Amino acid sequence: MALTSASPIDLLPHAPDGVADNVLDVIGKTPLVRLHRFLDRRDIELYAKLEYLNPGGSMKDRPAARMLADAISSGQVGRGTLVVESSSGNMGIGLAQACRYHGLRFRCVIDRRTQEHNVKILRAYGAEVEVVEEPDPATGDLLTARLGRVREILATEPDVFWPNQYSNANNPLAHQLGTMSEIDDALSGRIDHVFVATSSTGTARGCAAHLRSRGRATSVVAVDAVGSVLFGGRPAERKISGLGAGIEPPLARNQRFSDLVRVSAVDCVVGCRRLIDREGILAGGSAGGVLHAVRHQAASMPSGSRCVAILADSGTRYLDSVYSDDWVEHELGVGPADLAALASAPDPTPTRLESVT
Ligand SMILES: Cc1ncc(COP(=O)(O)O)c(C=O)c1O
Repeated sequence: MALTSASPIDLLPHAPDGVADNVLDVIGKTPLVRLHRFLDRRDIELYAKLEYLNPGGSMKDRPAARMLADAISSGQVGRGTLVVESSSGNMGIGLAQACRYHGLRFRCVIDRRTQEHNVKILRAYGAEVEVVEEPDPATGDLLTARLGRVREILATEPDVFWPNQYSNANNPLAHQLGTMSEIDDALSGRIDHVFVATSSTGTARGCAAHLRSRGRATSVVAVDAVGSVLFGGRPAERKISGLGAGIEPPLARNQRFSDLVRVSAVDCVVGCRRLIDREGILAGGSAGGVLHAVRHQAASMPSGSRCVAILADSGTRYLDSVYSDDWVEHELGVGPADLAALASAPDPTPTRLESVT
């Protein structure tokens, strides 16, 4: 449903069967890959869902495309609509991609912590980028300040649409009908645990909803950041982008998952470094946290357990942080030798994790 009908796209015949009709058609059906070496325990089956192979580079392509398609078909978005979202990373890029394809203006409200690399990607897609410099005076929080700026834009622009990933039901629905459904089908419903990073909680909620709808006994393990306020956590600085939240989003309210594990920034880095070392997979920071949580929980799993880890994005967005020894030493206080030792240490993990439930 391209809105770019100044272009002849809508008039052209659809692509033949088996060929994607447009870039948004390529979203989803990401590979599920067996990880043979990540865990020392070879009696546990571990699979990774490679969400970075979505065309915009992350699992956020799914909710971004779905929220927009729904708004277009319901008439909330038309040709002249400005789409606005607060995001410092993947959701902004997913929306920038979908808006570009539909020929819509997109403004992404970011803050000064947003990585330069992501800003360049947003601009390459033609997004307008607005940077919030100062935290909200009442809370000291930059996300609150970004959301405040979005509300100002809503109040002043005549034709504007805010997908609002933090409360939009199409966010979890995209993962219910897409991500988790694909995993469930690929493994014929036999999955003991699925490990999911949380921020808006759209992914974890969607996975839980799918599993409920199929009557599966699979446990959903929410992986949150130390310093995130989700699920009653205490606020503190977080250094891995995309993981955790500084304010509780409406989607997260009253959500309970089978288990909850909080990981530190060092845990995320260790998980990433071990993943690339043992499996040759370059994944983003939250994916490292998710896999670190698997390692932690695997210690108490019975032989033959089957686990799936959802890897949200690619390590190419973290070359100057998670994959930079200088950054890890400077920001997290762990030198290269200690980091290598942590990443190659035998299971169970040497770092302490807080298992909350
Ligand atoms: C890299 C990364 N991991 C995990 C998440 C959390 O996903 P969700 O918002 O669906 O909880 C996000 C969300 O932006 C993310 O960008």
